[in-house]
Amino acid sequence: MSDIKNKDLRDAGKKRIEWADRDMPVLQEVRERFTKEQPLAGKTVAACLHVTAETANLMRTLKAGGAKVTLCASNPLSTQDDVAAALSEEYGIETFAIKGEDRDTFFKHINAVLDTKPNLTMDDGADLVTTVHTTRTELIAGMVGGTEETATGVIRLRAMAKDGALKFPVVAVNDAKTKNLFDNRYGTGQSTLDGIIRATDMLIAGKTFVVAGYGWCGKGLAMRGKGMGANVIVTEIDAVKALEAAMDGFRVMTMDEAAKVGDLFCTVTGNVNVIGRKHFPTMKDGAVVCNAGHFDVEIDVKALIEMATSKRENIRSFVNEYTVNGKRIFVLADGRLVNLAAAEGHPASVMDMSFATQALACEWMAKNPGITANVYDVSDEIEHMVATTKLASMNITIDTLSDEQKKYLDSWQEGT
Ligand SMILES: NC(=O)c1ccc[n+]([C@@H]2O[C@H](COP(=O)([O-])OP(=O)(O)OC[C@H]3O[C@@H](n4cnc5c(N)ncnc54)[C@H](O)[C@@H]3O)[C@@H](O)[C@H]2O)c1
Repeated sequence: MSDIKNKDLRDAGKKRIEWADRDMPVLQEVRERFTKEQPLAGKTVAACLHVTAETANLMRTLKAGGAKVTLCASNPLSTQDDVAAALSEEYGIETFAIKGEDRDTFFKHINAVLDTKPNLTMDDGADLVTTVHTTRTELIAGMVGGTEETATGVIRLRAMAKDGALKFPVVAVNDAKTKNLFDNRYGTGQSTLDGIIRATDMLIAGKTFVVAGYGWCGKGLAMRGKGMGANVIVTEIDAVKALEAAMDGFRVMTMDEAAKVGDLFCTVTGNVNVIGRKHFPTMKDGAVVCNAGHFDVEIDVKALIEMATSKRENIRSFVNEYTVNGKRIFVLADGRLVNLAAAEGHPASVMDMSFATQALACEWMAKNPGITANVYDVSDEIEHMVATTKLASMNITIDTLSDEQKKYLDSWQEGT
């Protein structure tokens, strides 16, 4: 039995899911084929993802492919309660997710989906895989494999594989080009600014915007911030990425320096305490601080709470004010993923590619039982299918290699 906020929200959720589906042509095509071919028949899939309209369409696709599917939230703040209601009441997919659920409920929900004894896990941050490997080890024997949606989860899984601790195979969906080049870059870039603007209603133009981390997400965020007129500063720990940011036209400096001049800060590193105790006292009055990285550990909110001489909660939805050294610092969404907490996450059009890749990776895993426990890349065939279907949906046709060009590219004797 699902655990959701309010069943009566089902109609609103259904409308939202259908609206998102219009913009998910690749996933629709996968769903049509899955309906005919039933590649997941007899499989039980436990999914732990942001419970959004786009995720709902992925769950519908897995179910259409013959799987028994259950879903819980990968983040306590990102659940769309109407979508959870529609999934449970309209589409018959057991869902365990309530926006704002506390830590105990969050883990209770993770265990509820694991109680279905899944063969396949689908994670966004490796919570299911971690739980199976720590407190639910009795499930390992029945596991065929899993898929992982985000960079932070993939880092954990690779660390587990390196230590020989990973007991079943997992596909790193995050590392697919059809995922991170688009979802991380354009999705996070747009939706993070959307979350910041919805939470604060601030004008981005003319602000000094500090982006911590110049990976795929950071690149998108810096690019979109610049496009809206911000004066963007990038902080990095990787020399090559820092150089790339500098040559892309951004100022690059340490967080110690950036903390003094930023009006708006956003962390997207997958790391811990990137903005910490030493930075808050040096910030300007009115600085706005938020995070779009996976876990709520990138900003040391605990330290800020300890240091603050006063605190005002919820001065707007998702905005808390802390006073340090007589200056106000505003933290958005408690330092959790601001694009999912204060906005609606990535637009459907970009999740189309990520989630088509997820569905196809899940099919690949179901068709390859018994492979060695390791972290696997998404195959070139899947990447090709997703990219070509997306292009076709955008009415874009590209050139194909002529025989002469193929021969030229295959040969080392020609053209010298
Ligand atoms: N908000 C979302 O919807 C969303 C979407 C996709 C990914 N993510 C998350 O965002 C984070 C970043 O993802 P990505 O794909 O850009 O990863 P990535 O690995 O491509 O980039 C992370 C960057 O942060 C840098 N970094 C690490 N520690 C740092 C520090 N202390 N200071 C400055 N820079 C530092 C790394 O050098 C790297 O360049 C991850 O936690 C990922 O799970 C969030």
